[in-house]
Amino acid sequence: MAEKLKVGVIGTGIIGKSHVGGYKSMADDVEIVAVADLNKEEAERVASANGIPHVFSDYKELLKVDEIAGVDVCLPNNLHMPVTVDALKAGKNVYCEKPMARTYEEAKVMFDTAKETGKMLQIQLATLFSWETKAAKHFIETDVLGRVYYVKTSHYRRRGRVYVDGYATPHFVQKAISGGGALADMAVYHISSMVWLLGNPDIETVTASTYQEIDMDEERKKFSKYDVEELGIGFVRFKGNVTMFIEESWAINMDRDEGDCIMGSKGGLRLHPFTLYTEVGGMTVDQPFDMENFKNRQRSIGKASEGFDSPQKNFVWAQLGRVPLIDTASIALKTAQITSAMYKSAEEHKEVVF
Ligand SMILES: NC(=O)c1ccc[n+]([C@@H]2O[C@H](COP(=O)([O-])OP(=O)(O)OC[C@H]3O[C@@H](n4cnc5c(N)ncnc54)[C@H](O)[C@@H]3O)[C@@H](O)[C@H]2O)c1
Repeated sequence: MAEKLKVGVIGTGIIGKSHVGGYKSMADDVEIVAVADLNKEEAERVASANGIPHVFSDYKELLKVDEIAGVDVCLPNNLHMPVTVDALKAGKNVYCEKPMARTYEEAKVMFDTAKETGKMLQIQLATLFSWETKAAKHFIETDVLGRVYYVKTSHYRRRGRVYVDGYATPHFVQKAISGGGALADMAVYHISSMVWLLGNPDIETVTASTYQEIDMDEERKKFSKYDVEELGIGFVRFKGNVTMFIEESWAINMDRDEGDCIMGSKGGLRLHPFTLYTEVGGMTVDQPFDMENFKNRQRSIGKASEGFDSPQKNFVWAQLGRVPLIDTASIALKTAQITSAMYKSAEEHKEVVF
């Protein structure tokens, strides 16, 4: 049997535990050799529940373990850049949680270090790996949509501000740690899939507004030091006269969002439920598609390898040499450029010109 890939997970909080579960589900291919967390007690609990031999409180000790090839960074956003850079420089491939970093500048340091060291850098952008995104990419590449000139990504949580509305830990709502609120946390998933579908175009201008308007639990607000936005709205012009409209809310007084929409000269797509809007014989038609059928056919004719099912699986399979690494780092970097420009535009009340 071929040797297993050896990985180490840094951060055993909510998402670190979920990534441990992901590697365990690939147990024939991967072995988790070590975990590290400042909260050593929790790291020890995770290690003993999952048969992981080494536990560290200092992540730098984990980076010294020679047999570890891949390091998984599941830490608050302010630590993504320094820990990823240390890991890359220690000769490890890195899988890092989203957002890539707090700012474009930090993300660029990560990207450049991966290039300099020649190591793999994968960012957790699960939306790029969905069957809807795969199907949309296929439609764009086979010219079903014609020239794509307008994309819209609109996502509302009615009341889903991290921690203050009930879920997860306070570092998400402190700008100095997280880099921002709804945009940094959730819009990055949606912006990145649009950037991916558009072929990573260059940005011309970005205009945005951010808001924090709706009341929240006072005790949780105070305890968490909440200082981020619950709503971000943006307008991006890309080179080639392509426009993207963004709305992302953690909390809003409205019933429904519009989801992800792609408008082309021959056809438009809504990703969920996956529907094509076009014209046939002079009449407009709305055509839903069966994603299960697409998935089964893609699998059976052998093009959609399991190695493209998720960023974590792609990270593992790429290191095993079975599939190429999807270049999420370039997409995450462009996404960071957009969200950083959105924050700048919102703060200065003016357009950011590139
Ligand atoms: N919670 C989710 O549902 C979710 C989903 C997708 C992505 N993410 C991303 O995952 C990352 C982590 O989020 P989380 O929800 O797991 O947070 P969390 O607070 O649950 O876990 C973070 C862990 O990092 C540890 N830590 C902090 N500083 C450390 C250091 N210097 N060295 C070692 N360990 C340290 C903490 O002790 C904690 O266990 C964030 O970037 C977030 O955006 C979270």
